[in-house]
Amino acid sequence: MEVRLIELSDAEKFVNFYDRLIRETDYLLPTVEESSKTVEQQENSIKKCCDYKQIFVAVDNDKIIGFMGISRSPMSKVKHIANFAIGVLSDYRKRGVASKLMSFAEHWLKEKEVKRVEMTVIAENKPAITCYEKNGYKHEGTREKSISMNGKLYDELFMAKMI
Ligand SMILES: CC(C)(COP(=O)(O)OP(=O)(O)OC[C@H]1O[C@@H](n2cnc3c(N)ncnc32)[C@H](O)[C@@H]1OP(=O)(O)O)[C@@H](O)C(=O)NCCC(=O)NCCS
Repeated sequence: MEVRLIELSDAEKFVNFYDRLIRETDYLLPTVEESSKTVEQQENSIKKCCDYKQIFVAVDNDKIIGFMGISRSPMSKVKHIANFAIGVLSDYRKRGVASKLMSFAEHWLKEKEVKRVEMTVIAENKPAITCYEKNGYKHEGTREKSISMNGKLYDELFMAKMI
C-alpha cells in the first residue's frame, strides 16, 4: 500500500472511490447527493490542489482505498493551522491505512510550516476518535448539537495536534 499526493490521472478512480466511501458512512460531512462529482469536476478539483488545499490518497494494487483532504487559510495569522477530513473503504479499515495517511500528511504539512492540525468529529464516531487519539490528537471541547443528521442533532468534538 502506497500513500501519495493525488494526481490528475487519479480523477476517475477517485470519483468511484469517494462514491463508494460516502455510501458506506454517515460520518463524512457531504451526503451522497452533495458529494457527487463528474470526472471532469474531479479533474478541476485536482488541478486546484496546492499548498493550502491538498488530497492524499492510499493506493493498494492500483485501487484508491483511502483519502485525506487537508485545507487551510492563506491568511498570515492562521496559515499555520490545517484542517482535515479522512476516510478509508470499509474492507480496508483497522489495518493502519488512516494512520499512514495522517503520518504522511503531517510530514508534508511540516514542510509547509504548518504547526497545528485540527478537525471536528461526531461524538458517536468512536472508531475515528480512537484512531485520532492513538495518533496523538487531543480533545479540546464540544460543539453542542452542531450536526443535523437523519432527523437528530449530534454533538461534535474539537480535536487537535501540534506537529
Ligand atoms: C476513522 C477511519 C478513517 C479509521 O481508519 P482506519 O484505517 O481503520 O484506522 P487505523 O487502522 O489507522 O486505526 C488506528 C487506530 O484507531 C483505532 N480504531 C480504528 N478503527 C477502530 C474501530 N472500528 N474500533 C475501535 N478502534 C478503532 C485503533 O486503536 C487503531 O489502532 P490498532 O488497530 O492498532 O488498534 C475509518 O474508520 C473510516 O473511514 N471511517 C468512516 C469515515 C469517517 O468516520 N471518517 C472520519 C470523519 S471525522
